[in-house]
Amino acid sequence: MKQQELLNIPPFTEGIDRVDGRLKVTGAAKYAAEFEVPGMTYAVFANSTITKGTIKTIDIKAAEKAPGVLAVFTYLNAPKVPGYETGGDPSKPPSGGGPLKLFVDNTVKYNGQPVAMVIADSFERATYAASLVKAEYNKEAHQTDTSKVLDKAATPKGSRFADYKRGTPDDWQSAPVKLETEYVVPIDVHNPMELSAIIAHWTADDKLTVYDKTQGVKSTQNAIAQAFKLPPDNVQVTAKFVGGAFGNALRTWPHEIAAVMAAKQVKRPVKLVLTREMQFYTVGYRPYTWQKINVGATADGKLTSIVHEARAQTSSFEEFTEGTVNMTRFMYACPNVGTIYKITPVDVNTPTWMRGPGEATGAFALESAIDELADKLNMDPIELRIRNHADIDPQNGKPFSTKYLKEAYQMGADKIGWQNRKNKPRSVQENGWLIGYGMGSGVFGAGRGRATVKATMQSDGTLLLQTAVTDIGVGTGTAMTQIASEVFTGIPVSKIKFELGDSSLPPSPTQGGSMITSTVGGAVHDACIALKEKFQQLIGNGGTDKPDYAQVLKDKNLPQLDVTITSSGSSEMRNFSSYSYSVHFVQVKVHPKTGVVRVNKVVSVADSGHIVSPKTARSQVIGGAIGGIGMALMEEGVIDHRFGRYVNADLAGYHVPVHADIPQIEALFVNKPDYKVNPMGAKGMGEIALIGMSAAVANAVYNATGKRIRELPITPDKLLG
Ligand code: MOS
Repeated sequence: MKQQELLNIPPFTEGIDRVDGRLKVTGAAKYAAEFEVPGMTYAVFANSTITKGTIKTIDIKAAEKAPGVLAVFTYLNAPKVPGYETGGDPSKPPSGGGPLKLFVDNTVKYNGQPVAMVIADSFERATYAASLVKAEYNKEAHQTDTSKVLDKAATPKGSRFADYKRGTPDDWQSAPVKLETEYVVPIDVHNPMELSAIIAHWTADDKLTVYDKTQGVKSTQNAIAQAFKLPPDNVQVTAKFVGGAFGNALRTWPHEIAAVMAAKQVKRPVKLVLTREMQFYTVGYRPYTWQKINVGATADGKLTSIVHEARAQTSSFEEFTEGTVNMTRFMYACPNVGTIYKITPVDVNTPTWMRGPGEATGAFALESAIDELADKLNMDPIELRIRNHADIDPQNGKPFSTKYLKEAYQMGADKIGWQNRKNKPRSVQENGWLIGYGMGSGVFGAGRGRATVKATMQSDGTLLLQTAVTDIGVGTGTAMTQIASEVFTGIPVSKIKFELGDSSLPPSPTQGGSMITSTVGGAVHDACIALKEKFQQLIGNGGTDKPDYAQVLKDKNLPQLDVTITSSGSSEMRNFSSYSYSVHFVQVKVHPKTGVVRVNKVVSVADSGHIVSPKTARSQVIGGAIGGIGMALMEEGVIDHRFGRYVNADLAGYHVPVHADIPQIEALFVNKPDYKVNPMGAKGMGEIALIGMSAAVANAVYNATGKRIRELPITPDKLLG
């Protein structure tokens, strides 16, 4: 197929408004829990109050007798889920163990684990009845404190996680300048605005419709079909709008399977909305991770060796893994590099991917360590990075498809006024506050997967694009509309409709991993090219480049013209290393007496290839920067290890940034296309918008105060201690 290079790069002010913006701000956009089905019932869980052990007795009599209750399920009476081996995206199976199966036996594996599920005719009645469930337990000793069992961490199975060694990494010990540091990233919890929710509605014995909070309707469809041994087409999954997710709806969780099971049993539709507290216990989190970085360098700042080790938590029943140490292998030109990645089980629910999974944690350590080295060398941290710039991928010798990291350093430095930064920490004071500048870089793979798009030119000249992707809030429909409008020069965006969020549409991957603009955008591009060609054939020679499509259809007596195209990345991609890069710059002020940190200025620069949707891209980068500031300064899921329960499982205790915490954020884009990745030249930006920000903040705090905080979040007590 012919590829059209989209060279028409608009300035950011020219990006279009969100195609679904009006629906969202007027409340017309319907999220999973907002659908209504006649005969709806409501599910509420009763949860374990112990962390580890077995259920001795569970008394549901009072709950069953409570007003409006239709059923109470426990492991004693819950019907068997026929294929209960599922757990999410079949393309990303856990590398070991499996997801928790609810109500199959009497074991308790973590605190807050559902032990009973009440179905009632209202949410309030279900909530009340769930409070009447009384369980007695045989308690066993538990461990939820990952920091206490780091020595038990082991390498996960599979070659991806084997220790990596290039050259002689242990050389750092004899290097002229050396650094040995440890970093800790605590549990972070996604906490999107929209709570996890599902409506399960069996329309026949072997058929159901599901409204679900999910990042992937096809993946949810497959997971439910597997669990209930149904043909996938019998499971209809809808997720038209998703109110943020950050990774916590990437897989199908036990509560979703339980709701489907219950709906089948009570023969009524079941609505289940998790409470904010339950979000902490059932839909994953960024795992607590301890890291150690050893660096050796020459006196003039050439890296000679790096060893990066990470140990992270997982659950006792399932291995969760992420690429925490991977960026250290290629981020800088360094001949001798070793990475070690291990996980250790504790008595908690399973962690999951959270924005920038792996790299967000790894970059905090690596980009803090580079800053520490610059400080030791008394060198500007950007200068140190430039001296160690990797011109080719040091891991495999491949060229980068595009890499504009140096440009990004320069753009950000100019914008934030980096020349005002003093290399010596604690040297600037203004109005009683200590002022500091810091920067940190992020990186994430820029790939392209497979997607199918149907493009239909309708009789009125409206272009309809359909695919089963979801939009978790980033603006996918808006971006796709702009890509189609660039290919179909002459069709205004107002005459392009992008339909998504339904499993019966042509297949698309789960929205995650910064892949969707590239993957679905590539397929939209290719489908539009194919449809244009179909029109050209119809018109024959002499057609103009901008035909009146409605007129052509009318002349040819056609109700519409459509194509369905499946496309994926070219094999040429294998010859290149493709990454998106970000560089975050911050200026902070720190109050020396109280330890309060305020972020004064933020500049985030993204090397994300060609920017196809300027307005939503800007919002994406700003959102990621705010997430990174939260990670740096406030976010932490705190467990009282005596009980294995969170003490801050709500938005009062789990702090995320609010408007007063966030200054104006400048989002800058290098905006140079990478046509190796896809015909739009776009690279992903969802993850890099956050990756590296926490190090930038920590580095700025060091520059302001001379205090190096290596354990997130950087709360005032740590600065005063
Ligand atoms: Mo993201 S962690 O790929 O939703």
